[in-house]
Amino acid sequence: MHPDPSVVIAHVSDTHLLAGGAPLAGLVDTASHLRDAAARLRVAAADADAIVVSGDVADLGEPEAYALAREILEPVAAELGAPIVWTAGNHDERPAMRAALGLPGEPLDPIDAVVEVGGVRIVALDSSMPGWHHGAFDDGQAEWLEAALADPPPLGSVLVMHHPPLPYRTRLMRLLEFRDERRLAEVLDGADVRAILSGHLHVGGSGTFAEVPVVLAGATSYADDLAGPPPAMHGIDATQSFNLVEIYPDAIAHSVVPALPHESRETVPAALARAVDALPPAERLDRFSRKPVAGGD
Ligand SMILES: [Fe+2]
Ligand SMILES: [Fe+2]
Repeated sequence: MHPDPSVVIAHVSDTHLLAGGAPLAGLVDTASHLRDAAARLRVAAADADAIVVSGDVADLGEPEAYALAREILEPVAAELGAPIVWTAGNHDERPAMRAALGLPGEPLDPIDAVVEVGGVRIVALDSSMPGWHHGAFDDGQAEWLEAALADPPPLGSVLVMHHPPLPYRTRLMRLLEFRDERRLAEVLDGADVRAILSGHLHVGGSGTFAEVPVVLAGATSYADDLAGPPPAMHGIDATQSFNLVEIYPDAIAHSVVPALPHESRETVPAALARAVDALPPAERLDRFSRKPVAGGD
């Protein structure tokens, strides 16, 4: 049985807020969805060491939308004592995002950042291209990234980038892929990146890039419905989620958490959970794992 993880990251993506909490496309209450997600994150990720937001924070890059993101997420982050690592996506606008979130650097510079928590280095790489929706990064960022990944900390690094460096399922979305995979692979060669956290596709998913696991958080705003009839793309106001990333010295586990509340029932009653927890370690397995013998008492 594993002990508790060394580091826990709450991975939130694609909040797509509009100024004043206006509904997205007049339909989707993305501000309310993020409030729900934040309330649920407080419970599901009570032990979080960091909150990572992997881009498309604002839908139109409005300063008020970033202010709203702060207003919703900062109190939770403060309560958990967990820094927020903001990453830019293709819907974000660097000058407004930087100013409203109080991020350092010149207005148009890529929003790249390094935050170290509990022996894990979280490196946020801005894969957005001003004026475009596809992803890329420039020579300066490649050099910066190489330096940022030098001298690895004890538990390695996690790279956050909005555009997952993977093939995309939807043909149209392949136009909006990350287009500098070769250069990124060169930078990652020999580095200690243990996972890449991404968003952008509005579906949870995973893959590998240059032998590094890539894990996507679904959006908190709306999900892409891959079963909607092509060639149109279909958004659904359902299945919103965020991820938990549990980092161990020799393993990383990712879990998907529904971002919105649903009716639930206790599949394991609280009384049983408490009773198992109260047992001596040697008896817990017997109480919780052993199946009743067929035909027995
Ligand atoms: Fe998005
Ligand atoms: Fe995106």
